Amino acid sequence: MEGKIIFIDDDPEILSSLQKHILHQPQWQCHFFQDAEAALSHLADNDCDIVVSDIMMERMDGLALLDILKSHERFSHIEVIMVTGWEKRRMKQLALARGAMDLLAKPVSIDELTARLNSVLRLISYRRQLEEKNRALEEQLAGAQKMELVGTLAAGAIHDLKNLLVVIGGLGNRMQLCDADARAVAEDKFYRHKEMLLQTVSKAETLARKILCFSRQEKEPLSPHEISGLVAENVEIFRSLLPKTVSLELELPAQEYRARLNRQYLAQILMNLIFNAAEAMHNNGMIRVCVGAATEDEPQRLNRQEGRKPYLRISVQDSGPGISPQDLPQIFTPCFTTKAKSGGTGLGLFVSKWLVEQMQGLITVTTAPDSGCCFEVLFPAIA
Ligand SMILES: Nc1ncnc2c1ncn2[C@@H]1O[C@H](COP(=O)(O)OP(=O)(O)OP(=O)(O)O)[C@@H](O)[C@H]1O
Ligand SMILES: [Mg+2]
Repeated sequence: MEGKIIFIDDDPEILSSLQKHILHQPQWQCHFFQDAEAALSHLADNDCDIVVSDIMMERMDGLALLDILKSHERFSHIEVIMVTGWEKRRMKQLALARGAMDLLAKPVSIDELTARLNSVLRLISYRRQLEEKNRALEEQLAGAQKMELVGTLAAGAIHDLKNLLVVIGGLGNRMQLCDADARAVAEDKFYRHKEMLLQTVSKAETLARKILCFSRQEKEPLSPHEISGLVAENVEIFRSLLPKTVSLELELPAQEYRARLNRQYLAQILMNLIFNAAEAMHNNGMIRVCVGAATEDEPQRLNRQEGRKPYLRISVQDSGPGISPQDLPQIFTPCFTTKAKSGGTGLGLFVSKWLVEQMQGLITVTTAPDSGCCFEVLFPAIA
């Protein structure tokens, strides 16, 4: 068995006898020291598998050396065999309790020491093989978990693309109607719809890019945005797509709030929340989107472990039937849907939560049967 071994004994005679016999083992790289400090300074620049040390030494004793080796991460893999001429039993318990591999009584027979060193080196080699296998298995597991998440997210992205295609189709239809209506063209509606259509196409493109980014584990860039403008822009698009029986109201603060966001992520989250609300109300009722500052204790209430920081809140409140207490714990779980018959995939809220978390935000809901739902998204505010 190959190995790097250090021997420490303050008795020069013992050391030279060890040197004479042990050096007959050509597969071992051995170093001999008369005190523990010299061995430690050697270890500062050199690796080692086993330290064989006397306990009673004039300067640093063997147990103090053992404590240093076992308490430093750099040295903790080194196995230590202690050697002592003292009353053996108590010392053995003490040394083993402090992390030594074994304790041998002086005078040590060279044959016994050689056999002991070989068996410890074998154990070290098994341990290394196990660590190597463990590392390989962990890598495999991380890869498999990532692929599973990529699959779920790909499904989520397809769900959002489906929604965006509905938006694109709706805008296309409106443009066709405008085309046939000279007055609408004169009123510029055609061009507004065209603008929205192009924006939605760009969202769909970004969405496809997002899933590719995730599979390569790249992060979408976040940049500072004034939040009211972004929310208003999206609400306008969704208002034009919802039937007139849905009243989509927007309440913006007088003050400007800024957060580090990704525009497309925010648009997808709002789209999911607003479409869910409209679907829950069977396209008949009120949805109110509000932007404002969150109260100071709100992030703590939601288990965010950090000092008090300003957060801002976007809420989407509806006048629908609300969510039942049985369904509530599951709504963010992938594939949970109460709309399977009408083609719900149950990925909208799961993906929304993931997107919110990519922007260091939090998402929560308050609801009661027949009192509607209020989804709140909180983001850390920036100056
Ligand atoms: N505003 C809401 N009012 C009542 N229930 C809601 C509301 N938003 C979500 N839910 C419930 O949460 C479930 C999960 O929503 P999610 O958006 O994840 O999927 P989905 O809407 O069912 O399917 P998809 O998003 O694919 O159309 C919904 O099926 C619904 O039961
Ligand atoms: Mg949904």
